[in-house]
Amino acid sequence: MPRWSSPGSTLADHAAPALELLPVTGLPEFRPGDDLAGAIARAAPWLRDGDVLVVTSKVLSKVEGRLVAVPADPEERDRIRREHVAAESVRVIARKMRTLITENKLGIVQAASGVDASNVAGDEIALLPVDPDGSAAALRGALRGLLGVEVAVVVTDTMGRAWRVGQTDAAIGSSGIRVLHDYAGTVDRHGNQLAVTLVAVADEIAAAADLVKGKLGSVPVAVLRGFEVVDDGSTARDLVRPTEYDLFRLGTEEALAQGRAEAVLMRRSVRFYSPEPVDLDVLKRAVGAALTAPAPHHTKPVRFVLVREKRAELLRAMREQWESDLRGDGFTDEQVARRVRRGDLLVEAPEIVVPFLVRDGAHTYPDDRRADAEKTMFTIAGGAAVQGLLVALAAEGLGSCWVSSTIFCADLVRSVLGVPGDWEPLGAVAVGHPAEPLVPREPLEGLIEL
Ligand SMILES: Cc1cc2nc3c(=O)[nH]c(=O)nc-3n(C[C@H](O)[C@H](O)[C@H](O)COP(=O)(O)O)c2cc1C
Repeated sequence: MPRWSSPGSTLADHAAPALELLPVTGLPEFRPGDDLAGAIARAAPWLRDGDVLVVTSKVLSKVEGRLVAVPADPEERDRIRREHVAAESVRVIARKMRTLITENKLGIVQAASGVDASNVAGDEIALLPVDPDGSAAALRGALRGLLGVEVAVVVTDTMGRAWRVGQTDAAIGSSGIRVLHDYAGTVDRHGNQLAVTLVAVADEIAAAADLVKGKLGSVPVAVLRGFEVVDDGSTARDLVRPTEYDLFRLGTEEALAQGRAEAVLMRRSVRFYSPEPVDLDVLKRAVGAALTAPAPHHTKPVRFVLVREKRAELLRAMREQWESDLRGDGFTDEQVARRVRRGDLLVEAPEIVVPFLVRDGAHTYPDDRRADAEKTMFTIAGGAAVQGLLVALAAEGLGSCWVSSTIFCADLVRSVLGVPGDWEPLGAVAVGHPAEPLVPREPLEGLIEL
């Protein structure tokens, strides 16, 4: 259970009556190995107990030696930068043109793994501190030693936000401050339960401090004064959303790959549907995808017919034919009725699509062997297209069941629907929203290697 959902964590309001944001001016340009705490103690001897020291991660990157030399040549420089972006990331979440959004080793999702060339010398790029929470704790301890003050430390980085234009500063490291303020279970002055309000206080502080630090001046450190600091042992690491609470866990590429892999596994014969109507545009999209199935000689041998107006008439005629076939086989009335009930699937399905095979473009042969092979080729192409339709429907969340019925009464189907005499029905496909949600199946073993 994440720290923030622990029971009994309900608090009073996190708002302070008034706040001061004080820039720490006069800090030097930092280089690897420099004493950051000493410099801050000299520049801000006025630090007090309860202050929140907000430090741009870039200065920690510098003093901790997380700078990488890059050559002047722009292409080479870019190549090295990209190498470091990849090395800092554990996975790529999204990629668009030259923008790469990654999850880094700290679990932080941001552009370019936080690798950045701003506010560093022209021949260098900066990587994020290895352990910003650790850096914050160390700086806090050092300031306690130097000035005898108990401050909280928040380490910031500038990030874009999904679905919002523009960047803000956020906390990537912290020490000595409760990073989240949980209002769960509390009641506002109108009597409303604040059920799901969890304020990312450390991020709010990071963003507020940026208002006095800025990006162009040499003010990488600011102090927030007047905030009621509580130390519950949490750190900025707790602001990384746990995977099980991440609705967008898959990166775009993973989601695509998973979608591709699962589309076939999502298909199964669905025989029970919810009353929800099928969106015709979705059905058209699925048919469009299915019509791209492979077929011999670059032909397009399949037609999908959505049967609506003639549906009742078609099903009645098919049923009568089926009953007469079964009676001819010698079945009793009761046996006939039981068998024919299987056809209720088509009666109850929200939509019915009848696929037809048209052998236009098939080659003719003088001998049976090749003529039969040509026939088989077209028939299997029909199967490929129908399977394509079922898979495309499943990928859209729609259920389907391919039943054979129309194959056994082709003349009747053609005559009721008024389609040409050389259209061969390939069964019927019931389509609808499944009564039970579709879940991907486990693939089967079965490749025969010879
Ligand atoms: C050409 C063909 C004809 C089928 N005819 C029927 C049918 O008449 N009635 C039916 O309920 N299912 C029919 N099915 C569906 C199969 O019974 C079903 O695919 C099989 O039981 C495997 O289940 P699954 O589709 O969920 O993997 C047919 C399937 C194919 C490919």
